[in-house]
Amino acid sequence: MTDDFMPIDGWDHVELWVGNAKQAAYYYEHAFGFRRTAYAGPETGLRDRASYVLEQNDIRLVVTSALHPDHKVGDHANKHGDGVKDIALRVPDAAEAYRQAIARGATGVHEPATVEDDFGTVELATIATYGDVVHTFVGRNGYEGAYLPGYVALESVNGIDKGVGLLAIDHIVGNVELGHMEQWVSFYEQVFGMTEMIHFSDDDISTEYSALMSKVMTNGNGKIKFPINEPAEGKRKSQIDEYLEFNHGPGAQHIALQSSNIVKTVETLQQRGVLFLTTPDAYYEETPERVGEIEESWSDLRRLKILADRDDDGYLLQIFTKTAQDRPTLFFEVIERHGARGFGDGNFKALFEAIEREQALRGNL
Ligand code: FE2
Repeated sequence: MTDDFMPIDGWDHVELWVGNAKQAAYYYEHAFGFRRTAYAGPETGLRDRASYVLEQNDIRLVVTSALHPDHKVGDHANKHGDGVKDIALRVPDAAEAYRQAIARGATGVHEPATVEDDFGTVELATIATYGDVVHTFVGRNGYEGAYLPGYVALESVNGIDKGVGLLAIDHIVGNVELGHMEQWVSFYEQVFGMTEMIHFSDDDISTEYSALMSKVMTNGNGKIKFPINEPAEGKRKSQIDEYLEFNHGPGAQHIALQSSNIVKTVETLQQRGVLFLTTPDAYYEETPERVGEIEESWSDLRRLKILADRDDDGYLLQIFTKTAQDRPTLFFEVIERHGARGFGDGNFKALFEAIEREQALRGNL
């Protein structure tokens, strides 16, 4: 066991750069059950953008949009559509994390800087990853403000303060171009000291039409998991190809959020209008035998179209939303783990067939 040169305490936040942050914030609040906790914009002295901080248990999303043309936030949303800009990681020492990352070959975006207000200080430093996505290292030891200096804390807005049972980020998946998966696997190995916990070949993950390859990178304490996908040759366009086309390059494909009661969470999300991928009833005819005994009722899973899978350590339940914007790019996953450490590879075929039905409807298959 070598020294952990890049200790990571956990996820800090995920920032989405979007066309209209005010409306995106409303969507994540009212549909996904997030609570609006902090804000920065013209009213707080920020002249060029507006950012809303949304929290649910240990999950923190930030949505940001530009207030002027020719602005990097607006340009990003114009090029990629609404999507993930920053997968920010909480670290004990942001300057040291940055120094280590640069020494190991990462590209710097923002050098370490300390920001402060009456609630304390936060240290930030940012490096580039795939596409236009970045990782900000956040050192917020002892900071007692709502989010970051410059933001004002908000009390509950519109009485929406009951979450839907989403607890924490489980993993965030990146899609990269054909032939580039290994390069990004090496990046997370070298720069972050991560290790490969699992991989799937195109034999594991293929349907009649599309295939992909995937490797999952994880850090020392196992809290951060980054699956990296690349397309593989299929009979028609892979779902990863479709993503790359509409995102205009690599980017974050989905954010998986943990629940400890997925039946209740998904039921509530559906009531609030969140749309999920459907799964054929035929899937539920073979699944109980494949997965074995579970605590939940199969009729609930079938009614809500929740998928189930089992590995050596236990089982997991998961479901995928439709894409969160018009472009077929970013979507969300809800996952409940009962011991299983995998990603539902036994489900991939059923899942991809479901995704391809959507892709065919858009005329892209
Ligand atoms: Fe996932």
